[in-house]
Amino acid sequence: MKKLLTALFTLATSLSMAQTGIDIIPKPAEISIQEGYFVPGKSTIIIASPAAGHDADMLNFYMKKLYGLTFPVKNAASGPGKKNVIILTVNPAAGVKKDGYHLEVTKDKINITAANGEGLFYGIQTLLQLVTADTDVSGNIPPHAIPDVSVNDYPRFQYRGMHLDVGRHFFDAEQVKKYIDYLAYHKFNTFHWHLTEDQGWRIEIKKYPRLTSIGAWRNGTVIGHYPGTGNDSLRYGGFYTQKEVKEIVKYAADRYITIIPEIEMPGHSSAAIAAYPQLSCFPDEPTAVKSNTPWAGPRTGKQVQQTWGVFPDVYCPSEYTFKFIENVLDEVMELFPSKYIHIGGDECPKEYWKRSAFCQKLIKEKHLKNEEGLQSYFIGRIEKYLNSKGRSIIGWDEILEGGLAPNATVMSWRGESGGIAAAKQHHQVIMTPGQYCYFDHAQTKNEDSVTIGGYLPVDTVYSYEPVPKKLDSSEAKYVLGAQGNVWTEYIGNESKLEYMIFPRMSALSEVLWTPKEERDLNDFKQRLTYMAKRYQAWGANYFRDK
Ligand code: ACM
Repeated sequence: MKKLLTALFTLATSLSMAQTGIDIIPKPAEISIQEGYFVPGKSTIIIASPAAGHDADMLNFYMKKLYGLTFPVKNAASGPGKKNVIILTVNPAAGVKKDGYHLEVTKDKINITAANGEGLFYGIQTLLQLVTADTDVSGNIPPHAIPDVSVNDYPRFQYRGMHLDVGRHFFDAEQVKKYIDYLAYHKFNTFHWHLTEDQGWRIEIKKYPRLTSIGAWRNGTVIGHYPGTGNDSLRYGGFYTQKEVKEIVKYAADRYITIIPEIEMPGHSSAAIAAYPQLSCFPDEPTAVKSNTPWAGPRTGKQVQQTWGVFPDVYCPSEYTFKFIENVLDEVMELFPSKYIHIGGDECPKEYWKRSAFCQKLIKEKHLKNEEGLQSYFIGRIEKYLNSKGRSIIGWDEILEGGLAPNATVMSWRGESGGIAAAKQHHQVIMTPGQYCYFDHAQTKNEDSVTIGGYLPVDTVYSYEPVPKKLDSSEAKYVLGAQGNVWTEYIGNESKLEYMIFPRMSALSEVLWTPKEERDLNDFKQRLTYMAKRYQAWGANYFRDK
């Protein structure tokens, strides 16, 4: 009975969250609200258990950033503290779910307890959203008041991802760190960093300096929607030094975010081929430029692309290419500790392989069925290499064609069918179907800036269910989670990037974190009204429904 009453109370309070001004996104699994506030001030201290020191620093980092507050940190051994304390505890024996947390706010104390650092960090993110912003101080609510609550919370999916394409447009190290802050605030745990593209190679590789001296730059960019009304003829580019990459990986790790780097192959490789033409099956052929493509600069030799789409000149599956990729991946693995390396695998036209005598001979020699089989051979070889180094591959769902590499994880983007097929073959799956997860699509039918693809309003993102109905429970367990993808053909600056991700990323965070039965679109939309103030507090742009 007590359990039932608690459940009812929890339900009642969570239903009324939006009305009480407790507008946490993603919505916690259970929350109950009491009367009263904890008011942080000059005498507030943080008391951290031995494993909670890092999270205490993170709490101070964000408290300062968002509210201008910092608190002295004391070790738990110095005593429990009676009043005005924020107690952070990591205790695997405390009975809190993995990556979950228990948060208790009373007049005198805040307690956050978790089984691990991740859980504590997520509890801190919830706490940050409970602080009364200066703009909301009114009547008897003092500045920074934190309402008395009891929260019991944990994630639904183990993979909660956001992606960013820095190939089409480059976002510098500081902008990437800010993006990571947005992920952390929404309890995402994976950043998929799409680092190489036809229009630019963005990561320094010491063994191949031309990848960034040549491959990171294009002579111009088409203007307007593809095929474009002209070319701006402005040299455009940029890349991350390995020092910057290390800093970003650490910045993310400090926030319990794993960065999965994507090094595309065998398609989307024009920039690498411009730097090292031997990577092409036809090194002496100039880059093919369509007659309707407005172009800047020379058309001779291999060029970094200046327009959008899919291009036929792809990596030749030669020993030169495999050695190149292995050498690149060796440096990538030094920089990124993640278990997974994304190897792309999408949108690889087979025309050049069809007319290459070398490829046709290889197909025969290896007893492959056709060019799809050759792509499978390509990906399988790279998988073997990465597996031998203790890493695993993720690829876009085209890697199913011609046969899946034995240990590959599939990222399903052309709808859900690739994910369903992979799960049925007992391969791990990350769902990113275009109709729910592509944040480069328009948010409104009257979009006044240029976007790509379809129409994806926030309600549709919120309605997404990552586990397809076609999977039974033994197959459904292969769905690790989902991810929002942000392709940047038409996202040329940070303000547009923020406009495209907010509020859709907030909706996706709830799809991935909150128990399915707790999701409610109307309630979410009410909480979103307050979330808009938080976007403003971050200084972020966001889409507003007119
Ligand atoms: C993709 O959107 N080409 C994966």
